[in-house]
Parts: sequence; C-alpha cells; structure tokens
Amino acid sequence: MNSENAISRRKALKFLALGSVSTVVAPSLFTTSCAANRQAGYQSYSEIFNSVYPFELAPLPYAHDALEPAIDALTMEIHHSRHHQGYINNLNNALESRPELHSMTLAELVANLNELPASVMTAVRNHGGGHLNHVIFWNTMSADGGAPGGDLAAAIDSAFGSMDAMKEEFTRAASTVFGSGWAWLASDSDGALQIVQTPNQDNPLTDGLNPLVGIDVWEHGYYLNYQNRRGDYISAWLDLIYWDKVNEIYQAAI
Ligand SMILES: [Fe+2]
Repeated sequence: MNSENAISRRKALKFLALGSVSTVVAPSLFTTSCAANRQAGYQSYSEIFNSVYPFELAPLPYAHDALEPAIDALTMEIHHSRHHQGYINNLNNALESRPELHSMTLAELVANLNELPASVMTAVRNHGGGHLNHVIFWNTMSADGGAPGGDLAAAIDSAFGSMDAMKEEFTRAASTVFGSGWAWLASDSDGALQIVQTPNQDNPLTDGLNPLVGIDVWEHGYYLNYQNRRGDYISAWLDLIYWDKVNEIYQAAI
C-alpha cells in the first residue's frame, strides 16, 4: 500500500467514525412532517454502514411495486430477497470461522479490504461489497425523492457546474460500466464530489472515497423490464434518488 492510499484509508476511517456520531444528530435533519413521512422505514446512516456480523437482510423501506414504473415489482422482489440475501449468506459463511473480524462494521470491512486475511479477502470484496452496495441502493431510492440539501447542492454546483451536468456525467459513467458493476456519486473527506465506476461489487470505500448514492447496473437490476436498454433504466433511476438520505450520508462525510 503506498502512502497516498494509506492516507486515503485513514480519511475513510475518520469518516466512518464520524458516522456513528451522525446518528445522534440525524433526526434534526428531518424536522418537517413531509420529510419525516418519507423517512419512515428507511435505515439510518449507522444502520446502513455500521452493522456487524452476523449480517441480516433488512426489509425494504417500501413495497415491491413502490418504484414502478421505473423499477418493476418482480425485479425488486428477486433482487432484494434472492440476490441481496445471497450476498449476505455468503458473507456470513466466509466470516463464521473468523471471530476476530466480527467486531468490524460492514463499512470497515470494505474500507480495509486489502488488509484483511487473504482467506476472506475475495469473499468480503464480492459479498461484503454486494451487501453494502445493495443496502445503500435500497435506502437511497424513493418515489418521492426530494432535492439535494444546501451543502450537497453547493457541492454539486462546485464539482459539476449544475445538477443537469452532474446527471449527464453520471449517465455517461453508468452507461459505460463494462459488464457488471456500479456508478457512484462519491465524496472525499473534504466533501468534494466525483463520479466513479466500480466493477462487480466493489465499493468506493475501498479506494478511500465515501459512497453517497450509486446505481446497480448488473443486468439482474433491470433486465426483466428493460432488457438491453440500460440507458432507459439509468434515466428512470435518476428520478428515484432519495436526496434526503443522500444528504444524511453526505453530512456524515463532511
Ligand atoms: Fe444488484
């Protein structure tokens, strides 16, 4: 690990430590009844990032058909109850015989992937990443997504020039993921935003960045409804971003 990466990881861990504090102040972000209603059923920042072994599948914060027509009910059901459950099962199986890792949070496992024992590294990369990516995915979508808050809106303008320009760059990134993977809006520990791609079930945390929201462009996420039309799925998904939750995650990062 070079010194630059070491610094990045320390920054990521600093962010994770701050995250536990954010759970104390997060309710103040949702003081309006409208926001509180949208928040019902969603996992908190800490529940998303700081769960520990044995990992469990949380219920979706909405009905399977809540995001139609953008994402159909059958895709949601299969994606959540089979694909996501599969990542959790495989992650728990891999960690069962490694009690020294049971106190590490999900985010710590993924952020420190390259320091883990070789015998579990691949399983944590694929299935720990798969678990974390999907928890973020479910909790950052809503049929009533709202808009970025002040700090996040300013960061989007600073990094991309405008919301539309951010969406254009995000669409390019998501469209050009080769094979299976994700595209993310991510921040560094100073709050500066960037859009990144990750292959397979990799997560930006492993590269020292904080994931704010990401789109799953594995075919299991859209093929029943969209077949080969990934661009249509990306366009529909951009309107599902649950900005209140993205704001909460971003506030923890800065
Ligand atoms: Fe997926």
